[in-house]
Amino acid sequence: MSPDERKKAAALAAVAHISSGMKLGLGTGSTAKHFVDAVGEKVRKGWDLVCVPTSESTRKQAESLGIRLTTLDETPVLDVTVDGADELDSELRLIKGGGGALLREKIVASSSRKMIVIADDSKKVPVLGKFPLPVEVVPFGLKATGIKIDQALAWSGNQGPMNVRIRDGKPFVTDNGNVILDCALGRIENPEKLAAALSSIPGVVEHGLFIGMASLALIATEHGVETLKK
Ligand code: A5P
Repeated sequence: MSPDERKKAAALAAVAHISSGMKLGLGTGSTAKHFVDAVGEKVRKGWDLVCVPTSESTRKQAESLGIRLTTLDETPVLDVTVDGADELDSELRLIKGGGGALLREKIVASSSRKMIVIADDSKKVPVLGKFPLPVEVVPFGLKATGIKIDQALAWSGNQGPMNVRIRDGKPFVTDNGNVILDCALGRIENPEKLAAALSSIPGVVEHGLFIGMASLALIATEHGVETLKK
């Protein structure tokens, strides 16, 4: 199976966890895209689903498939959010934000009774951190915020270079008008301590550590889809 076929297998396995009448959070990224396609198919077959997208790109995809969308203002509590991840460990701690949608992804996942992660097996790691940790930061005071992030990294026993994410030669701007600092840490020591330290910095809008949010992961391997439970 190609990596994309595995992503699709994980996404299709998540369909078994949804049913007509549910309120869903729709993730972002190449794996979540397959899930949104599958939701579109269910809607075409007459399922009654209402969804909150976690990014403008997912919104466009969902709209093109005729999926009924809502907002967290209209529908503040969702049944299930299904989303991809850049990394996950055996405790279902995640790194997310490779696609830059971490803030809305975290708001939507935390407004859901259940978060299901879908991924191919390349995302499963013994220790988080090989994937650079995205931190969404307000552009105002970027340098000063970066210094505080460095201090938070050191305080939590982590270190590594931090780079403003660049796309097409200019800083990548999130759906919320912010920029992303990617922290290449190699391995993250004490993710909980780092998460708390990053969350306390003025100017940091959100970070890509999702801890205690996912309760189920569907990991597609060469031999089928594995289920990991919290
Ligand atoms: C988007 O910001 C991310 O959190 C994605 O969920 C994550 O990057 C996984 O994306 P892929 O499914 O494309 O690997």
